[in-house]
Amino acid sequence: MSEIKLAPSILSADFARLGEAARAVERAGADWLHVDVMDGHFVPNLTFGPKMVADLRRATGLPLDVHLMIERPEEWIDRYAEAGADWLVVHVESTRDPAATLRAIRERGPRPGITLRPGTPLRAIDPYLELCDLVLVMSVEPGFGGQPFIEGSEQRVADVSEGLRRRGHRAEVEVDGGVKPELCGALIHAGATVLVAGSGVFLDPDGVDAALAKYRRSIGEVRPA
Ligand code: DX5
Ligand code: ZN
Repeated sequence: MSEIKLAPSILSADFARLGEAARAVERAGADWLHVDVMDGHFVPNLTFGPKMVADLRRATGLPLDVHLMIERPEEWIDRYAEAGADWLVVHVESTRDPAATLRAIRERGPRPGITLRPGTPLRAIDPYLELCDLVLVMSVEPGFGGQPFIEGSEQRVADVSEGLRRRGHRAEVEVDGGVKPELCGALIHAGATVLVAGSGVFLDPDGVDAALAKYRRSIGEVRPA
């Protein structure tokens, strides 16, 4: 089985203590840090911009997986690249020319990823798969943490990983939204390689160490299909 990455989403952490939160999940064994950028237009919620990514870059050694929920992401690539994003993931619905945007991301340094809203047909990303190192399947409507996992999203994960396999294109398959430890097995079987978890990590009453351990345990229990 390929290595499964766990990417806590900083969205559910205390925004007055983001550096500490990043270091806490790093110590607890997280693989990546998922950073949700929202502009109040593409999604109703508003979070933070490139300065926060630059500050997080100094706070942690974890790869920064930056999920851009913003309109016209192409205008912001330079700033997020300079801020130290390792991955820049754009919504297919948010940019007029996804291919040009993905190519520009790669040129500036970060690894490019594409994503789509849960209601957008998967064929919308088909033309861009080869330009991506990561495909993110949203399992909630983007905008807020703590929402329930949309049933049937496992099937979208399976369809994406099958589409990549058919093309002979290796890319990470990431799932984001409502991912709790008990769902990890089915998602990994469906082909997920990166699991994002916000509220499941930062809002666990037992603390982030115990939360990460629960995810690790459920990932460790997965047997090959
Ligand atoms: C939603 C964000 C997610 C969110 C996940 O728009 O993209 O990354 O933080 O949080 P949970 O795991 O609580 O659904
Ligand atoms: Zn996200």
